[in-house]
Amino acid sequence: MPRLQFRRDSSVSRNSGHKSSNVTWHESRVTQDLRHRIFGQRGATLWFTGLSGAGKSTLAFTLEHKLVNARFKSYVLDGDNIRHGLNNNLGFSDADREENIRRVGEVSRLFADAGLITLSSFISPFRSDRRQVRKIHEDAGLPFIEIYIDTPLEVCEERDPKQLYAKARRGEIKNFTGISSPYEIPEQAEIVIPVHSSPDESATLIFDYLKQQKIIQA
Ligand code: ADX
Repeated sequence: MPRLQFRRDSSVSRNSGHKSSNVTWHESRVTQDLRHRIFGQRGATLWFTGLSGAGKSTLAFTLEHKLVNARFKSYVLDGDNIRHGLNNNLGFSDADREENIRRVGEVSRLFADAGLITLSSFISPFRSDRRQVRKIHEDAGLPFIEIYIDTPLEVCEERDPKQLYAKARRGEIKNFTGISSPYEIPEQAEIVIPVHSSPDESATLIFDYLKQQKIIQA
């Protein structure tokens, strides 16, 4: 599949090989450095991956609250929520999941480029899709931080907050991650959240990591 061209090479069409032709890339006069200086934070994407029920969204929303309370601009893109709107035409086949992650990966990159600390919470079970999201961030010079919520299947199934594992075991949901659809464990996550660490503890750990990486100045 053709990939977007590196954005700083404005002489190259970003759309070569894509369905839309005769479209031209417009470069903003607002650079990432200018946004960084004015906003007091660097735009970045924090990508939360793990099984359903692992605690991704709870952690992402806890961290969003902590960041916003400290006056940083942050926003959660959550799998279940996005499937109510932008991606309400996608299901859970491999192809639909790939398209889900492609779209939200692009939205994350746009949000990060706008200067937001973007917290993207998706099962995103396939390594190749996560790798591609990482690549578009790296090509755009934007930090991409992969966070693996390492909660084992047994624990997720025991919690089963939405009773989806029970339904999947009864065969009432097809292609359910961990039961009848694969989850590929990250090999290059910047942060791994161990099972049973509390959302507050984990949010503090990530907040400190963002300070250390100079993404936020607190
Ligand atoms: S992803 O695999 O495409 O990244 P996403 O994060 O958007 O998934 O959505 C996952 C959420 O959809 C789960 O938390 C769960 O509530 C719901 N869901 C419904 N059907 C499935 C399924 N077959 N597999 C996994 N999650 C499902």
